[in-house]
Amino acid sequence: MTATVIDGKAFAEKVRAQVAQHVTALKEKHGITPGLAVVLVGEDPASQVYVRSKGKMTVEVGMNSYEHKLEADTSEADLLAVVDKLNRDPEVHGILVQLPLPKHLDSDLVINSIDPAKDVDGFHISNVGLLGTGQKSMVPCTPLGSLMMLRGHHGSLSGMNAVVLGRSNIVGKPMAQLLLNDSCTVTIAHSRTKDLPDVVRRADIVVAAVGRAQMVPGDWIKPGATVIDVGINRIDAPEKGTNEDGSVKTRLVGDVDYESCAQVAGAITPVPGGVGPMTIACLLANTVTACCRAKGLPEPEGLTA
Ligand code: GUN
Repeated sequence: MTATVIDGKAFAEKVRAQVAQHVTALKEKHGITPGLAVVLVGEDPASQVYVRSKGKMTVEVGMNSYEHKLEADTSEADLLAVVDKLNRDPEVHGILVQLPLPKHLDSDLVINSIDPAKDVDGFHISNVGLLGTGQKSMVPCTPLGSLMMLRGHHGSLSGMNAVVLGRSNIVGKPMAQLLLNDSCTVTIAHSRTKDLPDVVRRADIVVAAVGRAQMVPGDWIKPGATVIDVGINRIDAPEKGTNEDGSVKTRLVGDVDYESCAQVAGAITPVPGGVGPMTIACLLANTVTACCRAKGLPEPEGLTA
């Protein structure tokens, strides 16, 4: 059996088209343009790529993009002042502070200084608490995108056994909450989990978010299960040859071993082209949702959890 490939790129294009439609309606009917502010501290190359991509896609769906690039040695007080200004800016409906922050800055303190209503990452403790109690909240983008793909593939997830590999605040924990809210039986597995292969073998849904390249082999997967691979890991790819400087070429892989898992699974997300594109699409969706809530307008259907 070969798994159905869940095309995250196509899915994300649909989500972005829906977002663009809502943005057009907000402009035409209400004279409102949703705005997303992204704050980047320092020059982490991966973060710079993400931030550029977020800005470009924000503009592509018709929203305003505000980028705040701060020096790596920015003080906590200065960063908090930037966040405070964005909290009070009526043109800004969503705020994202790119993580990781330089070590001298307290990420929890900074994240919790964002107005929860503008916290399009869903990382503020208020949003975490609201999600955990099943109330309306801002939902972290990667888990939201994963949930949308699961619902798109299965319809109802009710009663399914879901195993989430990884317990991060950004993916593992909120993913588990979302699956629980959709009436799955949820297990969160992690580096200390005993008999991990057997735990994963019981899953109808596996969400892998551990950050370890190709960690999950096909023989851990129950035949027909759905595999959502959140991992983005760069590994050497000597089969692709060498770069001009003599270094070995690389390629991106997920947290599951795609080749062997695709032989057993019923459906699987590829890397790249699976969860990745959905994450930014959901950031845009969250910004429209935040804007509608701020203005007391009906929020877009199908773009929230
Ligand atoms: N760094 C890596 N992923 C994320 C994310 O989803 N949000 C933020 N703010 N930073 C990140």
